[in-house]
Amino acid sequence: MHALIHPWGTLTLYRWPRQRNEALQAWDNADRYLLNTLSERASVGGETLVVNDNHGALALAASAAGGVVASGDSWLAMDNIQRNAKANQIPSVPYCWPGEDLPGAADQVLMRVPKSLALLEAQLSWLSMQLAEGVPVWLSGMDKHLPRQLVPLLETYLGNGQAEYGWKKARLFSAVAPGKVLAEAPYPSHVEGPMGPLVVHAGVFSQQQLDIGARFFLDHLPEGLANDARVADLGCGNGVIGLAVLQQQPGASVTFCDESWQALKSARENVAGYFAEASVAFHHGDGLQGLEGRFDCILLNPPFHEGHAVGDHVARRLFRQASQHLAKGGELRVIGNQHLGYHKLLRRLFANVQVVGSNRKFVVLSCREPK
Ligand SMILES: C[S@@+](CC[C@H](N)C(=O)[O-])C[C@H]1O[C@@H](n2cnc3c(N)ncnc32)[C@H](O)[C@@H]1O
Repeated sequence: MHALIHPWGTLTLYRWPRQRNEALQAWDNADRYLLNTLSERASVGGETLVVNDNHGALALAASAAGGVVASGDSWLAMDNIQRNAKANQIPSVPYCWPGEDLPGAADQVLMRVPKSLALLEAQLSWLSMQLAEGVPVWLSGMDKHLPRQLVPLLETYLGNGQAEYGWKKARLFSAVAPGKVLAEAPYPSHVEGPMGPLVVHAGVFSQQQLDIGARFFLDHLPEGLANDARVADLGCGNGVIGLAVLQQQPGASVTFCDESWQALKSARENVAGYFAEASVAFHHGDGLQGLEGRFDCILLNPPFHEGHAVGDHVARRLFRQASQHLAKGGELRVIGNQHLGYHKLLRRLFANVQVVGSNRKFVVLSCREPK
């Protein structure tokens, strides 16, 4: 279940945080296809740039063949790679966040096609800027997750690209870097927030318009927050919820938390644009983990998937963290789809769970008195 046999050896790979009865493996056939391609078609011992690796299958296996740098948007993916490196007694992998310059020249690229087309476009444009002319770029994904526009996007950003053979429900695409920028990705985009337009960098939740859940949540935020209230916008995305708090109570201290680099970048720019003087902090990590402070109010519009894996496991983790980070008398306020039944999960963690707003689609829950 945990042993990945790859062209240069074997790795033990886990999905972190580890869960009892984990049913999903930490790699798939798209990872194996890319690793086989690297072993058959790449220059021996070259430097490999790995993009969007989720658990280290690509970066850690490729590090047995040469130097590796990894890049992606997700803090959780970065953390998974480093934890699996440790579990396999492999040195940690240098990591480059979206838009940052590579620490050195790459000889080839292995890339998992990301779920977000916007992020894919931004990453292809970034690759065209970072790579020397002729560097091979191999991309892969599972057939069921691949966008139809992939080859046209490769042509737009890299000037060439083709689909190769399918293998065990995975597909490979290849291109070579043009050595210059051919097209700028049309990001960040903008959505209309309660205080004006908000910057949304590529790949961030609600790329083209404000989420309808977020809009309903904005109508049901706590009122009368104290002047010095400590507030966390948990899973902040573009920061719209925390910004609405600052609009209502400019004296509040707001900590914007997200595991997406691009989300925090958006939130940072939006705060700078509207509330440059406010007392704010930004936390890039798994929810509230690693934060020392306690909060009078935690606001959460939870994610219902992690990459392609749909479920309430992330929401559960964030609920638990919130229950441990509330100050005395504090409140967690959550919005959820009616059918997700979050109230049942929350009643296990909080003695006092009240409905403070609902319509046919959404419910807003106020949770106090952590058990
Ligand atoms: C449903 S979106 C809500 C975004 C924003 N608050 C809104 O209402 O428009 C959930 C957000 O949670 C973030 N997220 C997912 N898993 C997370 C985790 N473990 N820790 C922190 N943020 C996470 C996602 O990147 C995403 O921005």
